[in-house]
Amino acid sequence: MSLAKRLLPIGVVAVLVAAAIPLVVHAAPKKGPAAMVAAAEPDAVEAGLKVLKAGGSAVDAAVAVQAVLGLEEPQSSGLGGGSFMTYYDAKTRKVTAYNGREKAPAGATPELFYGPDGKPMPKGQAIVGGRSAGVPGAIAMLFLAQSQHGKLAWKDLFDDAESLAANGFIVPRRMAEAAASRAPQANQPDAVAYFTKPDGTKIQAGELFKNAAYATTLHNIASQGPKAILEGPIAEQIVAKLHEGPYPSAMTLKDLASYQPKATPAVCRPYRAYTVCVPPAPSGGPAVLEGLGILQRTNINTHPNDTEGWYLFSQASRLMYADRDRYYGDPDFVSVPMEGLLAPDYLDARAKLIASDKAGPPPGPGNPKGAGPRAPDQTKEPGGTTHFVIVDKDGNAVSMTTTVESIFGDGKMVGGFFLNNQLTDFSFTPKDIDGAPAANSPAGGKRPRSSMAPAIVLDKQGRFVAGAGSPGGPSIIAFNLKVLVGLLDWKLPIQDAINLPNLIAFETIYASEPARFPTGVVAGLAAKGVTVRGGGFGEGSGEQGIEATANGLRGGADPRREGVARGY
Ligand code: DON
Repeated sequence: MSLAKRLLPIGVVAVLVAAAIPLVVHAAPKKGPAAMVAAAEPDAVEAGLKVLKAGGSAVDAAVAVQAVLGLEEPQSSGLGGGSFMTYYDAKTRKVTAYNGREKAPAGATPELFYGPDGKPMPKGQAIVGGRSAGVPGAIAMLFLAQSQHGKLAWKDLFDDAESLAANGFIVPRRMAEAAASRAPQANQPDAVAYFTKPDGTKIQAGELFKNAAYATTLHNIASQGPKAILEGPIAEQIVAKLHEGPYPSAMTLKDLASYQPKATPAVCRPYRAYTVCVPPAPSGGPAVLEGLGILQRTNINTHPNDTEGWYLFSQASRLMYADRDRYYGDPDFVSVPMEGLLAPDYLDARAKLIASDKAGPPPGPGNPKGAGPRAPDQTKEPGGTTHFVIVDKDGNAVSMTTTVESIFGDGKMVGGFFLNNQLTDFSFTPKDIDGAPAANSPAGGKRPRSSMAPAIVLDKQGRFVAGAGSPGGPSIIAFNLKVLVGLLDWKLPIQDAINLPNLIAFETIYASEPARFPTGVVAGLAAKGVTVRGGGFGEGSGEQGIEATANGLRGGADPRREGVARGY
């Protein structure tokens, strides 16, 4: 059966076959979109498109998109969170990685998440405690990127978000569901007060909702830049808020005011006929490159969406996670053996560990060049993140994953936005029993390891091929690997690549979406020792992507969220 038949319902295939009979000679098809935005909320997409149509660049539009997402998808990202952005500059064909990852306050210690009993505290306690918050970096990062690649004035990028906040927006389904959920963050006093109507009931999807405080904060960010939240009254409120409760933060005004985002060259590696670029550690990008590097040494490209293809995917994924969990942390604090992990001879050796007949026991981490002794990782990641991709009419592209860590961050609000609980992305146990340090142990001023891996794909001439990424906590690197395999190996349109089943293979876990596989694949995988089961081990996906085709841009948005991809 052809791939198209496997992926499309029978009726659609019949229409396509009928359409292939040339009854009428048509004029050449109209060229598709030259600029596009793909994001998890339609109002955010519209705000981004408006900026693009006004002559703004992809980075200008990213500012507008983030401002609306922080209002309409506050469970996932916002002014109080952090992010990684991969940026493609069409003129120079250079790819830059922007790091807006939250930082631990200078006073944070390796025992950040130890309770009074001297043991790592339960995750449920940590996620709502003041000490879970890092210095927010998303807005500072966008400000830096916009100063380098913006075309419009910073102050003009917030109009849509400000007006939606002041005049009201229609409550999206996912926001209402998150507000009504039993997640501890949604039940913190600030979150309850924000989402409860005067009649005592929670907001419902489809209702008009306003956030005057958010409008004011945006107004101040528009005129003052990130200083509006990292200094002055909002910063004072952040510090006060984080010192409340049983597990207070060490955050000071100085921690906030001294936050610096980073811009570095992206890490780019060849993958078949392409080059895939991602941010360096502490992002999850290099782990995705390792997964691709292993798969490049297999024939997954000749097994589109079949049992063998998914088997190879699952085994490469296990190897990728084993190394990621052992070696990745903030390279400003620990040496991450990235070159060793991505070296051709190391990838050869890792790929040879994939048994041809049947999955073996969980693979351990390898021993790449440059690796020091590292303790097993004790990082526990939940959900609260989003991804968007933007291409402007000049061909510049943004692929950005942005997060407050878990649903509504820590549930605490200041200035109409939620504060993050990103520091729970650190390993709760800083050392193993032999004293070997965990790469991702907490420390003052350190950034926690992330799975976020916003990707940009180029062709061999350095031209834009695609941008893609996803939220999903620890599942992100598997989600992104899948989209890239679907697009680059299986040659699927980006939307079909997104629609493929998610499969997170980790140690003995094969978390997936069994109903999305073609007939026979689940049974075929089981025969090879890969028993897939429903349910992930991170949050669900929110894969968004844009690809360049001979006929203009083509976008995709994850049907598992509420996003859209629109262009002009
Ligand atoms: O940076 C990370 O890896 C996590 N804090 C991301 C959390 C996430 O993706 C939640 N999912 N929607």
